[in-house]
Amino acid sequence: MARLDPHSYFDADQPRTRRLALAFDVDFARRVVVGRVVLDLGGPAQGDLDLDTKGLRILSVRTGDGRTVPHALGAEEPILGQRLRLGLPAGTAAVEIAYETAPDSAALQWLDPAQTEGKKHPFLFSQCQSINARALLPCQDSPYVRAPYRAEVTIPEALAAVMSAGPAGVRPGPRPGTRTWLFEMPQPIPSYLLALAVGDLASRDLSPRARVWAEPATVEAAAWEFAGVEEMITTAESLFGPYPWDRYDMLVLPPSFPYGGMENPRMTFLTPTLLAGDRSLVDVVAHELAHSWTGNLVTNATMEHFWLNEGFTVWAERRIVEALHGAEAVAVAWTLGQNALDEAVARFGPVSPLTRLRTEMAGVDPDEAYSSLPYEKGARFVALLEATVGRERFGRFLQAYLAKFRFTSITTEDFVAFLDAELPGAGTRVGAREWLYGVGMPANAPVFRSDRLAALTALAEGFAGGARPTPPQVAAWTPPEMLVYLQHLPRELGANACAWLDANLALSGRGNHELLVEWLVIAAGSDYEPVFGRVREVLSRVGRMKYLRPLYGALGRHARTRALAREIFAAAEPGYHALSRRVIASVMETYRAD
Ligand code: BES
Ligand code: ZN
Repeated sequence: MARLDPHSYFDADQPRTRRLALAFDVDFARRVVVGRVVLDLGGPAQGDLDLDTKGLRILSVRTGDGRTVPHALGAEEPILGQRLRLGLPAGTAAVEIAYETAPDSAALQWLDPAQTEGKKHPFLFSQCQSINARALLPCQDSPYVRAPYRAEVTIPEALAAVMSAGPAGVRPGPRPGTRTWLFEMPQPIPSYLLALAVGDLASRDLSPRARVWAEPATVEAAAWEFAGVEEMITTAESLFGPYPWDRYDMLVLPPSFPYGGMENPRMTFLTPTLLAGDRSLVDVVAHELAHSWTGNLVTNATMEHFWLNEGFTVWAERRIVEALHGAEAVAVAWTLGQNALDEAVARFGPVSPLTRLRTEMAGVDPDEAYSSLPYEKGARFVALLEATVGRERFGRFLQAYLAKFRFTSITTEDFVAFLDAELPGAGTRVGAREWLYGVGMPANAPVFRSDRLAALTALAEGFAGGARPTPPQVAAWTPPEMLVYLQHLPRELGANACAWLDANLALSGRGNHELLVEWLVIAAGSDYEPVFGRVREVLSRVGRMKYLRPLYGALGRHARTRALAREIFAAAEPGYHALSRRVIASVMETYRAD
Protein backbone atom coordinates (compact mmCIF):
# COMPACT_ATOMS: atom_id res chain seq x y z
CA MET A 1 0.00 0.00 0.00
CA ALA A 2 1.30 3.44 -0.84
CA ARG A 3 -0.77 6.27 0.51
CA LEU A 4 1.17 9.45 -0.22
CA ASP A 5 -1.37 12.09 0.73
CA PRO A 6 -2.53 12.42 4.35
CA HIS A 7 -5.79 13.93 3.11
CA SER A 8 -6.80 11.20 0.70
CA TYR A 9 -7.36 7.47 0.36
CA PHE A 10 -5.61 7.66 -3.01
CA ASP A 11 -3.17 4.75 -3.18
CA ALA A 12 -0.29 5.10 -5.64
CA ASP A 13 -0.08 1.30 -6.05
CA GLN A 14 -3.62 1.18 -7.45
CA PRO A 15 -4.82 2.20 -10.93
CA ARG A 16 -5.08 5.95 -11.53
CA THR A 17 -7.93 7.90 -13.04
CA ARG A 18 -6.78 9.00 -16.50
CA ARG A 19 -9.98 10.73 -17.61
CA LEU A 20 -13.35 11.62 -16.07
CA ALA A 21 -16.79 11.79 -17.60
CA LEU A 22 -19.38 13.46 -15.38
CA ALA A 23 -23.13 13.77 -15.59
CA PHE A 24 -24.73 16.04 -12.99
CA ASP A 25 -28.46 16.48 -12.62
CA VAL A 26 -28.96 19.49 -10.38
CA ASP A 27 -32.06 19.20 -8.21
CA PHE A 28 -32.72 22.57 -6.53
CA ALA A 29 -35.87 21.32 -4.83
CA ARG A 30 -34.03 18.56 -2.94
CA ARG A 31 -30.69 20.39 -2.87
CA VAL A 32 -28.82 17.42 -4.26
CA VAL A 33 -26.79 16.69 -7.33
CA VAL A 34 -27.73 13.34 -8.82
CA GLY A 35 -24.46 12.26 -10.34
CA ARG A 36 -22.94 9.69 -12.60
CA VAL A 37 -19.18 9.55 -12.98
CA VAL A 38 -17.09 7.37 -15.25
CA LEU A 39 -13.49 6.93 -14.14
CA ASP A 40 -11.41 5.89 -17.12
CA LEU A 41 -8.41 3.92 -15.85
CA GLY A 42 -6.50 4.11 -19.12
CA GLY A 43 -6.31 0.33 -19.62
CA PRO A 44 -7.44 -2.96 -18.08
CA ALA A 45 -7.00 -3.10 -14.31
CA GLN A 46 -8.18 -5.27 -11.44
CA GLY A 47 -8.20 -5.47 -7.66
CA ASP A 48 -8.80 -2.75 -5.10
CA LEU A 49 -9.47 0.83 -6.07
CA ASP A 50 -9.89 3.24 -3.13
CA LEU A 51 -11.79 6.46 -3.71
CA ASP A 52 -12.63 9.41 -1.49
CA THR A 53 -16.22 10.31 -0.69
CA LYS A 54 -17.89 12.64 1.78
CA GLY A 55 -21.61 12.45 2.45
CA LEU A 56 -22.27 10.67 -0.87
CA ARG A 57 -25.03 8.11 -1.29
CA ILE A 58 -23.68 5.45 -3.65
CA LEU A 59 -26.43 3.98 -5.83
CA SER A 60 -24.54 1.59 -8.09
CA VAL A 61 -21.05 0.73 -9.32
CA ARG A 62 -20.44 -1.03 -12.66
CA THR A 63 -17.56 -1.62 -15.01
CA GLY A 64 -17.55 0.24 -18.32
CA ASP A 65 -18.94 -2.90 -19.96
CA GLY A 66 -21.78 -3.25 -17.47
CA ARG A 67 -20.52 -5.78 -14.90
CA THR A 68 -21.42 -5.16 -11.24
CA VAL A 69 -18.49 -4.02 -9.10
CA PRO A 70 -18.46 -5.02 -5.42
CA HIS A 71 -17.91 -1.99 -3.22
CA ALA A 72 -17.91 -0.93 0.42
CA LEU A 73 -18.03 2.41 2.17
CA GLY A 74 -15.69 2.66 5.15
CA ALA A 75 -16.33 4.40 8.46
CA GLU A 76 -16.82 8.16 8.45
CA GLU A 77 -13.55 9.94 9.35
CA PRO A 78 -13.95 13.55 10.50
CA ILE A 79 -11.45 15.09 8.03
CA LEU A 80 -11.17 12.47 5.31
CA GLY A 81 -14.80 11.44 4.94
CA GLN A 82 -15.49 7.85 3.87
CA ARG A 83 -13.29 5.55 1.84
CA LEU A 84 -15.14 3.84 -1.03
CA ARG A 85 -13.32 0.61 -1.81
CA LEU A 86 -14.12 -0.97 -5.15
CA GLY A 87 -13.13 -4.53 -6.01
CA LEU A 88 -12.47 -4.31 -9.75
CA PRO A 89 -13.04 -7.54 -11.67
CA ALA A 90 -10.22 -8.48 -14.07
CA GLY A 91 -10.13 -6.42 -17.24
CA THR A 92 -11.83 -3.31 -15.83
CA ALA A 93 -10.82 -0.33 -17.98
CA ALA A 94 -13.47 2.03 -16.63
CA VAL A 95 -15.90 2.20 -13.70
CA GLU A 96 -19.20 3.99 -13.65
CA ILE A 97 -20.62 5.13 -10.32
CA ALA A 98 -24.14 6.45 -9.82
CA TYR A 99 -24.63 8.47 -6.64
CA GLU A 100 -26.21 11.47 -4.95
CA THR A 101 -24.62 14.29 -2.97
CA ALA A 102 -25.83 15.18 0.53
CA PRO A 103 -28.06 18.26 0.92
CA ASP A 104 -25.35 19.65 3.22
CA SER A 105 -22.47 18.65 0.91
CA ALA A 106 -19.23 20.30 2.05
CA ALA A 107 -18.45 21.12 -1.59
CA LEU A 108 -21.65 22.98 -2.37
CA GLN A 109 -23.60 26.01 -1.30
CA TRP A 110 -27.25 26.15 -2.31
CA LEU A 111 -28.66 29.68 -2.19
CA ASP A 112 -32.29 30.70 -1.90
CA PRO A 113 -33.45 33.34 -4.38
CA ALA A 114 -33.36 35.85 -1.47
CA GLN A 115 -29.59 35.40 -1.22
CA THR A 116 -29.03 36.45 -4.82
CA GLU A 117 -28.96 39.90 -6.37
CA GLY A 118 -31.94 39.20 -8.61
CA LYS A 119 -34.05 37.56 -5.82
CA LYS A 120 -35.89 35.43 -8.40
CA HIS A 121 -33.82 32.30 -8.94
CA PRO A 122 -31.82 29.95 -6.74
CA PHE A 123 -28.05 29.63 -7.12
CA LEU A 124 -25.56 26.81 -6.64
CA PHE A 125 -21.79 26.95 -6.50
CA SER A 126 -19.03 24.53 -5.60
CA GLN A 127 -15.76 25.09 -3.75
CA CYS A 128 -13.59 21.97 -3.93
CA GLN A 129 -10.24 23.20 -2.67
CA SER A 130 -8.78 21.91 -0.42
CA ILE A 131 -10.43 18.48 0.00
CA ASN A 132 -14.09 18.82 -0.82
CA ALA A 133 -14.27 17.45 -4.37
CA ARG A 134 -15.11 14.15 -2.63
CA ALA A 135 -18.37 15.74 -1.43
CA LEU A 136 -19.33 16.38 -5.08
CA LEU A 137 -18.17 13.11 -6.67
CA PRO A 138 -16.39 9.89 -5.71
CA CYS A 139 -12.79 10.33 -6.89
CA GLN A 140 -9.11 10.03 -6.06
CA ASP A 141 -9.23 13.38 -4.30
CA SER A 142 -5.52 14.09 -4.13
CA PRO A 143 -3.67 16.58 -6.34
CA TYR A 144 -1.25 13.75 -7.10
CA VAL A 145 -3.92 12.59 -9.55
CA ARG A 146 -4.70 14.73 -12.59
CA ALA A 147 -7.25 14.00 -15.26
CA PRO A 148 -9.01 15.80 -18.12
CA TYR A 149 -12.78 15.76 -17.92
CA ARG A 150 -15.99 16.22 -19.83
CA ALA A 151 -19.30 16.94 -18.18
CA GLU A 152 -23.00 17.26 -18.90
CA VAL A 153 -24.98 19.29 -16.43
CA THR A 154 -28.77 19.28 -16.40
CA ILE A 155 -30.38 22.35 -14.87
CA PRO A 156 -33.67 24.30 -14.99
CA GLU A 157 -34.03 26.01 -18.37
CA ALA A 158 -34.11 29.53 -16.91
CA LEU A 159 -30.59 29.12 -15.50
CA ALA A 160 -27.07 28.88 -16.90
CA ALA A 161 -24.18 26.66 -15.84
CA VAL A 162 -20.43 27.33 -15.87
CA MET A 163 -17.60 24.97 -15.01
CA SER A 164 -13.80 24.98 -14.78
CA ALA A 165 -13.75 23.88 -18.41
CA GLY A 166 -14.50 25.04 -21.91
CA PRO A 167 -18.16 25.32 -22.98
CA ALA A 168 -19.17 22.57 -25.42
CA GLY A 169 -22.79 23.40 -26.19
CA VAL A 170 -26.29 23.21 -24.71
CA ARG A 171 -29.03 20.74 -25.63
CA PRO A 172 -32.59 20.08 -24.49
CA GLY A 173 -32.67 18.29 -21.15
CA PRO A 174 -34.12 14.87 -20.32
CA ARG A 175 -37.27 16.42 -18.78
CA PRO A 176 -39.49 19.32 -19.80
CA GLY A 177 -38.21 22.59 -18.35
CA THR A 178 -34.57 21.45 -18.27
CA ARG A 179 -31.51 21.93 -20.44
CA THR A 180 -28.21 20.08 -20.44
CA TRP A 181 -24.99 22.11 -20.62
CA LEU A 182 -21.88 20.41 -21.98
CA PHE A 183 -18.30 21.08 -20.94
CA GLU A 184 -14.89 19.86 -21.96
CA MET A 185 -11.62 20.28 -20.08
CA PRO A 186 -8.93 18.79 -22.33
CA GLN A 187 -6.01 19.43 -19.97
CA PRO A 188 -5.40 17.22 -16.94
CA ILE A 189 -6.39 18.93 -13.68
CA PRO A 190 -6.34 17.87 -10.04
CA SER A 191 -9.74 17.26 -8.43
CA TYR A 192 -9.58 20.43 -6.31
CA LEU A 193 -9.91 22.45 -9.53
CA LEU A 194 -13.24 20.90 -10.51
CA ALA A 195 -15.87 23.61 -10.25
CA LEU A 196 -19.50 24.20 -11.07
CA ALA A 197 -21.87 27.12 -10.65
CA VAL A 198 -25.53 27.39 -11.67
CA GLY A 199 -27.70 30.46 -11.54
CA ASP A 200 -29.34 33.27 -13.42
CA LEU A 201 -26.14 34.34 -15.19
CA ALA A 202 -25.27 36.82 -17.89
CA SER A 203 -21.90 37.46 -19.49
CA ARG A 204 -19.87 40.20 -21.18
CA ASP A 205 -16.87 39.71 -23.42
CA LEU A 206 -13.81 41.63 -22.24
CA SER A 207 -11.50 40.45 -25.03
CA PRO A 208 -11.49 37.63 -27.60
CA ARG A 209 -10.36 35.19 -24.89
CA ALA A 210 -11.77 36.69 -21.68
CA ARG A 211 -15.33 37.01 -20.49
CA VAL A 212 -16.98 37.83 -17.19
CA TRP A 213 -20.11 36.09 -15.90
CA ALA A 214 -22.34 37.41 -13.14
CA GLU A 215 -25.96 37.83 -12.24
CA PRO A 216 -27.63 40.23 -14.70
CA ALA A 217 -27.88 42.98 -12.05
CA THR A 218 -24.11 42.82 -11.47
CA VAL A 219 -22.67 42.04 -14.86
CA GLU A 220 -22.15 45.63 -16.08
CA ALA A 221 -20.33 46.62 -12.92
CA ALA A 222 -18.22 43.47 -13.21
CA ALA A 223 -17.36 44.17 -16.84
CA TRP A 224 -16.24 47.66 -15.88
CA GLU A 225 -14.21 46.57 -12.86
CA PHE A 226 -12.32 43.84 -14.75
CA ALA A 227 -12.02 45.61 -18.12
CA GLY A 228 -8.22 45.52 -17.80
CA VAL A 229 -7.99 41.73 -17.68
CA GLU A 230 -6.60 41.28 -21.20
CA GLU A 231 -3.72 43.62 -20.39
CA MET A 232 -3.13 41.55 -17.27
CA ILE A 233 -3.04 38.34 -19.30
CA THR A 234 -0.57 39.75 -21.84
CA THR A 235 1.59 41.09 -19.00
CA ALA A 236 1.56 37.69 -17.31
CA GLU A 237 2.45 36.03 -20.62
CA SER A 238 5.45 38.32 -21.02
CA LEU A 239 6.65 37.17 -17.59
CA PHE A 240 5.70 33.50 -17.48
CA GLY A 241 5.17 32.36 -21.09
CA PRO A 242 2.07 31.80 -23.26
CA TYR A 243 -1.22 31.42 -21.37
CA PRO A 244 -1.71 27.65 -21.31
CA TRP A 245 -5.47 27.28 -20.84
CA ASP A 246 -7.01 28.83 -23.95
CA ARG A 247 -9.73 31.01 -22.39
CA TYR A 248 -9.66 33.06 -19.18
CA ASP A 249 -13.22 33.60 -18.01
CA MET A 250 -14.38 34.80 -14.61
CA LEU A 251 -17.53 34.35 -12.56
CA VAL A 252 -18.63 36.88 -9.95
CA LEU A 253 -20.50 34.94 -7.29
CA PRO A 254 -23.14 36.00 -4.80
CA PRO A 255 -21.68 37.62 -1.67
CA SER A 256 -21.66 34.45 0.45
CA PHE A 257 -18.70 33.07 -1.56
CA PRO A 258 -16.19 32.27 1.23
CA TYR A 259 -12.99 33.29 -0.59
CA GLY A 260 -11.72 36.35 -2.43
CA GLY A 261 -10.97 34.31 -5.48
CA MET A 262 -10.56 30.71 -6.58
CA GLU A 263 -8.39 29.84 -9.55
CA ASN A 264 -10.73 27.31 -11.21
CA PRO A 265 -9.09 26.82 -14.60
CA ARG A 266 -10.79 28.69 -17.46
CA MET A 267 -13.31 30.09 -14.93
CA THR A 268 -11.87 32.00 -11.98
CA PHE A 269 -14.48 32.39 -9.21
CA LEU A 270 -14.53 35.83 -7.55
CA THR A 271 -16.24 37.46 -4.59
CA PRO A 272 -18.49 40.41 -5.49
CA THR A 273 -16.69 42.42 -2.78
CA LEU A 274 -14.05 43.07 -5.48
CA LEU A 275 -16.55 45.36 -7.20
CA ALA A 276 -15.27 48.47 -5.44
CA GLY A 277 -16.27 50.73 -8.32
CA ASP A 278 -12.72 52.04 -8.77
CA ARG A 279 -10.77 48.94 -9.92
CA SER A 280 -8.79 49.12 -6.67
CA LEU A 281 -9.08 45.39 -5.85
CA VAL A 282 -8.12 43.80 -9.16
CA ASP A 283 -4.90 42.43 -7.60
CA VAL A 284 -7.00 39.43 -6.64
CA VAL A 285 -7.58 38.76 -10.34
CA ALA A 286 -3.81 39.07 -10.93
CA HIS A 287 -3.37 36.42 -8.23
CA GLU A 288 -5.93 33.98 -9.63
CA LEU A 289 -4.61 34.53 -13.15
CA ALA A 290 -1.04 33.86 -11.95
CA HIS A 291 -2.22 30.46 -10.69
CA SER A 292 -2.66 29.55 -14.37
CA TRP A 293 1.10 29.02 -14.32
CA THR A 294 2.08 28.64 -10.66
CA GLY A 295 -0.54 26.23 -9.35
CA ASN A 296 -2.83 24.97 -12.07
CA LEU A 297 0.09 24.12 -14.37
CA VAL A 298 2.49 23.06 -11.58
CA THR A 299 0.70 22.33 -8.34
CA ASN A 300 1.38 20.91 -4.89
CA ALA A 301 1.32 17.11 -4.67
CA THR A 302 -0.49 17.40 -1.32
CA MET A 303 -1.50 20.17 1.07
CA GLU A 304 1.82 19.65 2.87
CA HIS A 305 3.41 21.50 -0.03
CA PHE A 306 0.75 24.22 -0.33
CA TRP A 307 3.43 26.95 -0.24
CA LEU A 308 4.59 25.81 -3.70
CA ASN A 309 1.15 26.69 -4.95
CA GLU A 310 0.34 29.88 -3.04
CA GLY A 311 3.80 31.27 -2.25
CA PHE A 312 4.86 31.10 -5.88
CA THR A 313 1.56 32.63 -6.91
CA VAL A 314 1.83 35.60 -4.56
CA TRP A 315 5.31 36.23 -5.92
CA ALA A 316 3.98 35.95 -9.51
CA GLU A 317 0.99 38.18 -8.70
CA ARG A 318 3.39 40.88 -7.46
CA ARG A 319 5.50 40.62 -10.61
CA ILE A 320 2.32 41.33 -12.59
CA VAL A 321 1.38 44.23 -10.29
CA GLU A 322 4.86 45.68 -10.58
CA ALA A 323 4.81 45.45 -14.38
CA LEU A 324 1.40 47.13 -14.51
CA HIS A 325 1.58 49.66 -11.68
CA GLY A 326 5.25 50.12 -10.78
CA ALA A 327 7.66 49.66 -7.89
CA GLU A 328 5.82 51.87 -5.37
CA ALA A 329 2.55 49.95 -5.80
CA VAL A 330 4.28 46.63 -5.30
CA ALA A 331 6.08 47.86 -2.16
CA VAL A 332 2.66 48.68 -0.73
CA ALA A 333 1.44 45.18 -1.63
CA TRP A 334 4.43 43.57 0.13
CA THR A 335 3.76 45.76 3.19
CA LEU A 336 0.13 44.67 3.34
CA GLY A 337 1.36 41.10 2.99
CA GLN A 338 3.77 41.61 5.88
CA ASN A 339 0.87 42.62 8.08
CA ALA A 340 -1.02 39.44 7.14
CA LEU A 341 2.11 37.38 7.76
CA ASP A 342 2.66 38.92 11.19
CA GLU A 343 -0.95 38.20 12.09
CA ALA A 344 -0.63 34.57 10.98
CA VAL A 345 2.54 34.04 13.01
CA ALA A 346 0.83 35.65 16.02
CA ARG A 347 -2.25 33.44 15.59
CA PHE A 348 -0.27 30.17 15.46
CA GLY A 349 2.59 31.23 17.77
CA PRO A 350 6.16 31.91 16.55
CA VAL A 351 7.42 28.32 16.83
CA SER A 352 4.24 26.51 15.75
CA PRO A 353 4.84 23.74 13.19
CA LEU A 354 2.26 25.52 11.04
CA THR A 355 4.81 28.31 10.50
CA ARG A 356 6.88 25.88 8.40
CA LEU A 357 6.53 26.07 4.63
CA ARG A 358 6.75 22.28 4.28
CA THR A 359 4.12 21.13 6.79
CA GLU A 360 3.15 17.76 8.30
CA MET A 361 -0.60 17.50 8.04
CA ALA A 362 -1.65 14.00 9.08
CA GLY A 363 -4.73 14.57 11.25
CA VAL A 364 -4.84 18.28 10.45
CA ASP A 365 -7.82 19.75 8.62
CA PRO A 366 -6.50 22.00 5.81
CA ASP A 367 -9.35 24.45 6.44
CA GLU A 368 -8.25 24.86 10.06
CA ALA A 369 -4.60 25.29 9.09
CA TYR A 370 -5.38 27.86 6.37
CA SER A 371 -3.59 31.17 6.81
CA SER A 372 -1.50 33.78 5.01
CA LEU A 373 1.68 32.03 6.11
CA PRO A 374 2.31 29.79 3.08
CA TYR A 375 1.38 32.75 0.88
CA GLU A 376 3.58 35.42 2.37
CA LYS A 377 6.46 33.41 3.78
CA GLY A 378 6.49 31.40 0.55
CA ALA A 379 6.49 34.54 -1.61
CA ARG A 380 9.37 35.98 0.43
CA PHE A 381 11.37 32.80 -0.09
CA VAL A 382 10.83 32.99 -3.85
CA ALA A 383 11.65 36.72 -3.89
CA LEU A 384 14.83 36.04 -1.93
CA LEU A 385 15.92 33.41 -4.44
CA GLU A 386 15.17 35.85 -7.24
CA ALA A 387 17.14 38.66 -5.60
CA THR A 388 20.05 36.30 -4.87
CA VAL A 389 20.55 34.96 -8.40
CA GLY A 390 19.25 38.06 -10.20
CA ARG A 391 16.03 38.58 -12.13
CA GLU A 392 17.33 37.36 -15.43
CA ARG A 393 18.68 34.05 -14.19
CA PHE A 394 15.64 33.54 -12.02
CA GLY A 395 13.42 34.20 -15.03
CA ARG A 396 15.22 31.46 -16.96
CA PHE A 397 14.95 29.15 -13.93
CA LEU A 398 11.20 29.76 -13.76
CA GLN A 399 10.77 28.98 -17.47
CA ALA A 400 12.70 25.72 -17.01
CA TYR A 401 10.68 24.88 -13.87
CA LEU A 402 7.35 25.42 -15.62
CA ALA A 403 8.52 23.48 -18.70
CA LYS A 404 9.79 20.55 -16.65
CA PHE A 405 6.80 20.19 -14.32
CA ARG A 406 3.89 21.42 -16.48
CA PHE A 407 0.68 19.49 -15.82
CA THR A 408 2.22 17.68 -12.86
CA SER A 409 1.95 17.95 -9.08
CA ILE A 410 5.16 18.16 -7.09
CA THR A 411 6.57 18.08 -3.57
CA THR A 412 8.90 20.49 -1.81
CA GLU A 413 11.61 17.88 -2.24
CA ASP A 414 11.06 17.78 -6.03
CA PHE A 415 11.42 21.54 -6.00
CA VAL A 416 14.64 21.48 -3.97
CA ALA A 417 16.19 18.84 -6.23
CA PHE A 418 15.35 20.93 -9.28
CA LEU A 419 16.66 24.10 -7.65
CA ASP A 420 19.95 22.42 -6.77
CA ALA A 421 20.34 21.10 -10.31
CA GLU A 422 19.44 24.36 -12.09
CA LEU A 423 20.82 26.98 -9.71
CA PRO A 424 23.63 25.15 -7.90
CA GLY A 425 24.55 26.76 -4.61
CA ALA A 426 21.59 29.16 -4.55
CA GLY A 427 19.65 27.05 -2.03
CA THR A 428 22.60 27.03 0.37
CA ARG A 429 23.18 30.76 -0.05
CA VAL A 430 19.62 31.67 0.89
CA GLY A 431 19.32 29.02 3.60
CA ALA A 432 16.59 27.08 1.78
CA ARG A 433 16.57 24.34 4.41
CA GLU A 434 15.73 26.77 7.21
CA TRP A 435 13.13 28.54 5.04
CA LEU A 436 11.37 25.34 4.08
CA TYR A 437 11.68 23.18 7.18
CA GLY A 438 12.25 25.71 9.98
CA VAL A 439 9.63 27.51 12.06
CA GLY A 440 9.03 31.28 12.11
CA MET A 441 10.66 33.84 9.87
CA PRO A 442 14.36 33.53 8.94
CA ALA A 443 16.56 36.56 9.64
CA ASN A 444 17.34 37.08 5.94
CA ALA A 445 13.67 37.56 5.00
CA PRO A 446 13.45 40.36 2.47
CA VAL A 447 11.84 43.54 3.75
CA PHE A 448 10.20 45.87 1.28
CA ARG A 449 10.40 49.55 2.19
CA SER A 450 9.90 52.91 0.57
CA ASP A 451 10.14 56.47 1.87
CA ARG A 452 6.49 57.00 1.17
CA LEU A 453 5.54 53.92 3.18
CA ALA A 454 7.82 54.88 6.05
CA ALA A 455 6.14 58.30 6.24
CA LEU A 456 2.71 56.67 6.10
CA THR A 457 3.36 54.22 8.92
CA ALA A 458 5.05 56.92 11.05
CA LEU A 459 1.97 59.10 10.64
CA ALA A 460 -0.30 56.24 11.74
CA GLU A 461 1.90 55.33 14.67
CA GLY A 462 1.80 58.99 15.79
CA PHE A 463 -2.02 58.96 15.87
CA ALA A 464 -2.27 58.35 19.62
CA GLY A 465 0.11 61.28 20.17
CA GLY A 466 -2.15 63.57 18.12
CA ALA A 467 -0.66 63.28 14.61
CA ARG A 468 -3.32 63.58 11.86
CA PRO A 469 -3.05 63.48 8.06
CA THR A 470 -4.03 66.71 6.29
CA PRO A 471 -6.84 66.64 3.69
CA PRO A 472 -4.36 66.97 0.77
CA GLN A 473 -2.33 64.07 2.20
CA VAL A 474 -5.42 61.92 2.44
CA ALA A 475 -6.47 62.89 -1.08
CA ALA A 476 -3.09 61.76 -2.45
CA TRP A 477 -3.32 58.25 -0.97
CA THR A 478 -4.14 55.31 -3.18
CA PRO A 479 -6.66 52.89 -1.61
CA PRO A 480 -3.91 50.40 -0.66
CA GLU A 481 -1.90 53.22 0.92
CA MET A 482 -4.90 54.22 2.99
CA LEU A 483 -5.15 50.57 4.02
CA VAL A 484 -1.52 50.59 5.20
CA TYR A 485 -2.35 53.70 7.23
CA LEU A 486 -5.38 52.04 8.84
CA GLN A 487 -3.44 48.86 9.61
CA HIS A 488 -0.88 50.84 11.57
CA LEU A 489 -3.43 52.68 13.73
CA PRO A 490 -4.05 51.54 17.31
CA ARG A 491 -6.64 48.73 17.49
CA GLU A 492 -8.75 50.60 20.00
CA LEU A 493 -9.59 54.30 19.81
CA GLY A 494 -11.84 56.73 21.63
CA ALA A 495 -15.16 57.84 20.18
CA ASN A 496 -13.76 61.24 19.13
CA ALA A 497 -10.88 59.65 17.28
CA CYS A 498 -13.29 57.28 15.52
CA ALA A 499 -15.55 60.15 14.56
CA TRP A 500 -12.56 62.11 13.24
CA LEU A 501 -11.40 59.19 11.10
CA ASP A 502 -14.82 58.47 9.65
CA ALA A 503 -15.42 62.14 8.85
CA ASN A 504 -12.02 62.77 7.28
CA LEU A 505 -11.40 59.46 5.52
CA ALA A 506 -15.06 58.78 4.60
CA LEU A 507 -14.60 55.19 5.75
CA SER A 508 -18.07 53.87 6.49
CA GLY A 509 -19.23 54.62 2.95
CA ARG A 510 -16.34 52.87 1.18
CA GLY A 511 -17.09 50.42 -1.62
CA ASN A 512 -13.59 48.98 -1.23
CA HIS A 513 -14.19 46.19 1.28
CA GLU A 514 -10.53 46.00 2.31
CA LEU A 515 -10.78 49.58 3.58
CA LEU A 516 -14.32 49.24 4.85
CA VAL A 517 -13.61 46.10 6.87
CA GLU A 518 -10.29 47.34 8.26
CA TRP A 519 -12.17 50.42 9.45
CA LEU A 520 -15.03 48.42 10.92
CA VAL A 521 -12.52 46.21 12.74
CA ILE A 522 -11.05 49.28 14.44
CA ALA A 523 -14.40 50.93 15.10
CA ALA A 524 -16.21 47.80 16.28
CA GLY A 525 -13.22 46.88 18.44
CA SER A 526 -13.50 50.38 19.93
CA ASP A 527 -17.16 49.81 20.82
CA TYR A 528 -18.04 52.75 18.53
CA GLU A 529 -21.80 52.59 18.21
CA PRO A 530 -22.32 54.67 15.02
CA VAL A 531 -20.83 51.83 12.91
CA PHE A 532 -22.93 49.01 14.38
CA GLY A 533 -25.50 49.25 11.58
CA ARG A 534 -22.83 49.03 8.91
CA VAL A 535 -21.21 46.07 10.73
CA ARG A 536 -24.54 44.28 10.72
CA GLU A 537 -25.02 44.98 7.02
CA VAL A 538 -21.59 43.64 6.07
CA LEU A 539 -21.78 40.55 8.28
CA SER A 540 -25.27 39.68 7.11
CA ARG A 541 -24.33 39.86 3.45
CA VAL A 542 -20.69 38.95 3.01
CA GLY A 543 -19.35 35.43 3.50
CA ARG A 544 -15.68 36.07 2.68
CA MET A 545 -13.79 34.48 5.56
CA LYS A 546 -10.97 37.01 5.27
CA TYR A 547 -13.47 39.61 6.51
CA LEU A 548 -15.59 37.54 8.86
CA ARG A 549 -12.69 36.34 10.99
CA PRO A 550 -11.27 39.77 11.97
CA LEU A 551 -14.66 41.45 12.23
CA TYR A 552 -16.19 38.81 14.50
CA GLY A 553 -12.85 38.84 16.34
CA ALA A 554 -13.02 42.60 16.95
CA LEU A 555 -16.61 42.33 18.15
CA GLY A 556 -15.33 40.05 20.89
CA ARG A 557 -13.56 42.85 22.73
CA HIS A 558 -16.53 44.41 24.53
CA ALA A 559 -19.66 43.01 26.15
CA ARG A 560 -21.98 45.17 24.05
CA THR A 561 -20.34 44.14 20.75
CA ARG A 562 -20.25 40.48 21.81
CA ALA A 563 -24.00 40.65 22.23
CA LEU A 564 -24.26 42.31 18.83
CA ALA A 565 -22.11 39.58 17.25
CA ARG A 566 -24.23 36.80 18.74
CA GLU A 567 -27.39 38.44 17.53
CA ILE A 568 -26.03 39.04 14.00
CA PHE A 569 -24.68 35.50 13.79
CA ALA A 570 -27.98 33.94 14.87
CA ALA A 571 -29.81 35.83 12.13
CA ALA A 572 -27.16 35.49 9.39
CA GLU A 573 -26.08 31.90 10.03
CA PRO A 574 -28.49 30.15 7.63
CA GLY A 575 -27.05 32.21 4.78
CA TYR A 576 -23.38 31.54 5.53
CA HIS A 577 -21.31 28.95 3.68
CA ALA A 578 -20.46 25.93 5.86
CA LEU A 579 -16.80 27.02 5.87
CA SER A 580 -17.63 30.53 7.02
CA ARG A 581 -19.91 29.16 9.72
CA ARG A 582 -17.07 27.09 11.12
CA VAL A 583 -14.61 29.97 11.10
CA ILE A 584 -17.04 32.20 12.96
CA ALA A 585 -17.91 29.47 15.46
CA SER A 586 -14.20 29.06 16.24
CA VAL A 587 -13.80 32.83 16.69
CA MET A 588 -16.85 33.02 18.95
CA GLU A 589 -15.53 30.18 21.08
CA THR A 590 -12.79 32.59 22.19
CA TYR A 591 -15.40 35.12 23.40
CA ARG A 592 -15.60 35.67 27.12
CA ALA A 593 -18.91 34.36 28.48
CA ASP A 594 -21.22 37.27 29.36
N1 BES B 1 -6.66 29.04 -4.02
C1 BES B 1 -6.90 30.15 -3.18
C2 BES B 1 -8.15 30.01 -2.35
C3 BES B 1 -8.19 28.76 -1.49
C4 BES B 1 -7.07 28.28 -0.84
C5 BES B 1 -9.37 28.09 -1.33
C6 BES B 1 -7.14 27.12 -0.06
C7 BES B 1 -9.44 26.95 -0.56
C8 BES B 1 -8.32 26.47 0.08
C9 BES B 1 -6.94 31.45 -3.97
O1 BES B 1 -6.02 31.49 -5.02
C10 BES B 1 -6.55 32.56 -3.03
O2 BES B 1 -5.46 32.51 -2.53
N2 BES B 1 -7.43 33.53 -2.80
C11 BES B 1 -7.17 34.65 -1.93
C12 BES B 1 -6.86 35.90 -2.70
C13 BES B 1 -5.42 36.18 -2.94
C14 BES B 1 -5.24 37.56 -3.55
C15 BES B 1 -4.49 35.99 -1.79
C16 BES B 1 -8.41 34.94 -1.12
O3 BES B 1 -9.42 34.29 -1.35
O4 BES B 1 -8.37 35.80 -0.27
ZN1 ZN C 1 -4.00 31.57 -4.46
